[in-house]
Amino acid sequence: MKNNLSASYHSVVHQILRERRTSHHFSDEDIPESLIENAVESVRWAPNHYLTEPWRVYLLGPEVKNQIISLNKEILEGSKGEKAAEIKAARWKEIPGWLLVNCIKSEDELRQVEDYAACCCGIQNLMLSFWADGVGVKWTTGEVTRDPRLAQIVGFNTEQENVVGLLWFGVAKGVAEQKRKPIDHYFFRVP
Ligand SMILES: Cc1cc2nc3c(=O)[nH]c(=O)nc-3n(C[C@H](O)[C@H](O)[C@H](O)COP(=O)(O)O)c2cc1C
Repeated sequence: MKNNLSASYHSVVHQILRERRTSHHFSDEDIPESLIENAVESVRWAPNHYLTEPWRVYLLGPEVKNQIISLNKEILEGSKGEKAAEIKAARWKEIPGWLLVNCIKSEDELRQVEDYAACCCGIQNLMLSFWADGVGVKWTTGEVTRDPRLAQIVGFNTEQENVVGLLWFGVAKGVAEQKRKPIDHYFFRVP
């Protein structure tokens, strides 16, 4: 289809949309700051109703990363036992890149839903931008992301912001296979 935009990148966009996969294992390679900034920059171009730009993005350094790992260990010791908590902590220490994406809270229920939706679009932009640069991401919403102590560690106010995702990123070790249902499972032509 012809439009007044450049048609040259269409196939690249379609390819990235289809081929992006959640990354579960990462090499210990550091990701250049310019690629991180590029991915974070892509968040603000996500659609957002009334241009609320509700996202807040935190790049977590080693100090905060270690505190989150300790907090998660403490949570898991209570629910799954010491051994499982230790294994998880060791795995998390290996993850090179940590970002937290929050959404500004709204007292208006509809605004809150729409702002959350916008933040999710922002995260998808970020993941696709990283993927285009050869960086894999895992979006996580585990128990630690709902623990109020996380806010104290990172330094945000839970009365003002909700966590949308803790994002791990790095050079992916392997690409997981994924299946999806065919389009007729969810696409209906209504007269
Ligand atoms: C809101 C949201 C929360 C997610 N939380 C987790 C999580 O806590 N742990 C996890 O392993 N994956 C999580 N994922 C990633 C999904 O499991 C993943 O996208 C799904 O398996 C499809 O794989 P794909 O991203 O490779 O297409 C989350 C994804 C979304 C959109």
